[in-house]
Amino acid sequence: MLVFVPPHPLIKHWVSVLRNEQTPSPIFRNAMAELGRLLIYEASRDWLPMVTGEIQSPMGVASVEFIDPREPVALGDELMFSSVLKIIPILRAGLALAEHASSILPATKTYHLGISRDEETLQPTIYLNKLPDTFPEGSRVLVVDPMLATGGTIVASLQLIKERGVDNQQIKVISAVAAPPALQKLSEKFPGLHVYTGIIDPTVNDKGFIVPGLGDAGDRSFG
Ligand code: PRP
Repeated sequence: MLVFVPPHPLIKHWVSVLRNEQTPSPIFRNAMAELGRLLIYEASRDWLPMVTGEIQSPMGVASVEFIDPREPVALGDELMFSSVLKIIPILRAGLALAEHASSILPATKTYHLGISRDEETLQPTIYLNKLPDTFPEGSRVLVVDPMLATGGTIVASLQLIKERGVDNQQIKVISAVAAPPALQKLSEKFPGLHVYTGIIDPTVNDKGFIVPGLGDAGDRSFG
């Protein structure tokens, strides 16, 4: 497994805004969305399906590369096109981090997963699952969840996705803050996975919160 903490000043900036307990909810949510945009940009570097061709510019013919995310989907007798680029926000907090995904990627399909963690046992419960029965071959999946704390939520998410036919190498995890227990579980269970995070923090406390972290990302995003 590879964990990337992109060394970009804007990423450091938005993590700092998120950490500040004085940051009000609308600004927190905006900071989360901006951080998500930057992390998704970094994660998409070697991830987008490219095709080559030639185009006529006003001054001559140029060799070009562009993104072609289409996958054919049969709808009755017709052939339609969907996108191989799949975004999976983990509700609730993942919605804020994934907010700009569709504005920086040319075409995406979004599948929502709702998972909440029991405050006592810290065990995840899946309360909404909009994943398809099977992901089409060639799918590339971004799983978006701001906090990787004990790792229970992200492991449950990835198990659901893998059961539906996606290899570890085709999945990237986007998070704002990651902690060692979650990273340890991910590296044991999902070799080959790539994780992009704004920061790695050292500790998870006995209530399951990352320290220093940024508090409860869902509550701070949505009040
Ligand atoms: C938080 C967070 C992650 C999860 C991380 O969600 O957004 O999804 O906990 O914890 P873990 O790594 O220990 O499983 P929460 O259950 O608070 O739901 P919310 O996003 O709706 O607030």
